[in-house]
Amino acid sequence: MDFRPGLEGVIAAQTNLSSVDGENGRLIFRGYRADELARKYMFEEVVYLLWYGEMPGQIELEKLKRKLQEARKLPANIVRIMDELPENMEMMAVLRTCISSLKAKPEWPPTFEEAIHITAVIPTILAYRYRSLHRLEFILPDHRLDHVANYLYMLTGNKPKEAHVRVMNAYFVLTAEHGMNAATFTSRVIASTESDLFSAVTGAIGAMKGPLHGGAPTGVISMLNEIETAEDTEDWLRRKLNNKEKLMGFGHRVYKTNDPRAEALRDVTESLSANDDWFKLARHVEDTAIRLLEEYKPGRRLYTNVEFYAAASFKAVDLPETLYTPTFTASRAAGWCAHVLEQAGNNRIFRPLSEYTGPESM
Ligand code: ACO
Repeated sequence: MDFRPGLEGVIAAQTNLSSVDGENGRLIFRGYRADELARKYMFEEVVYLLWYGEMPGQIELEKLKRKLQEARKLPANIVRIMDELPENMEMMAVLRTCISSLKAKPEWPPTFEEAIHITAVIPTILAYRYRSLHRLEFILPDHRLDHVANYLYMLTGNKPKEAHVRVMNAYFVLTAEHGMNAATFTSRVIASTESDLFSAVTGAIGAMKGPLHGGAPTGVISMLNEIETAEDTEDWLRRKLNNKEKLMGFGHRVYKTNDPRAEALRDVTESLSANDDWFKLARHVEDTAIRLLEEYKPGRRLYTNVEFYAAASFKAVDLPETLYTPTFTASRAAGWCAHVLEQAGNNRIFRPLSEYTGPESM
């Protein structure tokens, strides 16, 4: 048997949830194209699709929305834990800590109610922590608002603009699920021991936190801030590539053509920000980087990934930078829950092999 570093090319699970076609740049959620879902459907509908396997009717959708709204409330022990954590603790570490303490006695097999609890409460945790660090009063969830709109509302206390909700809803839909990425794999490995959903999501948050996975949008914004103008772009990018540094927001283990999520996000963000200088700069950086990556890394097929336009979307809706990766986590948690429910329904503990490369026995 071959050793495959990073398990590249290895099929680790069978799933009905999503198909990531890296050669043709297509992402399918249970038979629906993710880019079309992002343009036409709300996050709650896509969550229903992922968890229950079909699009909800009106009654099912209203029921799920109501349950999500009820589960937004922050438990008192989670507030106390957050208040005790050091102020300089990364938001992802705060979230990891909170999710691990959310339920005293999780169930096995995991339940839809638990999935609802986790998905619903993450935005409230993020909003509470963000506002508390900035000495701002906590904004209670507004039950009249849908999931994504309520998240934006809890951050600012202002009813969000429709255009902002549209961009963020597209982001939440597009990033809710994505096959066997590192964090999802982590969640399935943990679930495969018949641990519990809260442990699985806690572990996945740990995996998501790394800069090669969920941390990329912050790197993209730093890159755009450092580049500043279109004239500086090529020199700046060449300097990075000459230093053998990776350009954040480019390249993907699976997509060897355009990442369909990046394209869909670019379209919705463009509808809001086409005339903004930073958006024009982002488009210019994208074009220049793709040309230079082909020059420096011929044949590697490096294109813009979702994180590049995630950064653009977040900037378009004025999301604070400290919330970039945590917001990715807020949407992806729905996908992790779907995977854990699926794993629990047909479980076999993960137990791959390792190849010994140490000295022979004496
Ligand atoms: N900039 C410059 N060169 C790159 C980049 C990049 N962004 N991505 C890959 N390469 C180069 C590698 O250096 C390597 O070159 P080599 O063949 O000369 O050694 C070649 O392309 C193949 O790259 P790998 O690192 O083997 O690709 P891998 O599949 O392991 O990594 C990854 C994929 C981690 C996403 C990588 O492209 C990367 O680090 N990109 C920047 C970080 C980023 O944007 N992450 C977000 C990913 S999307 C997500 O997690 C939701």
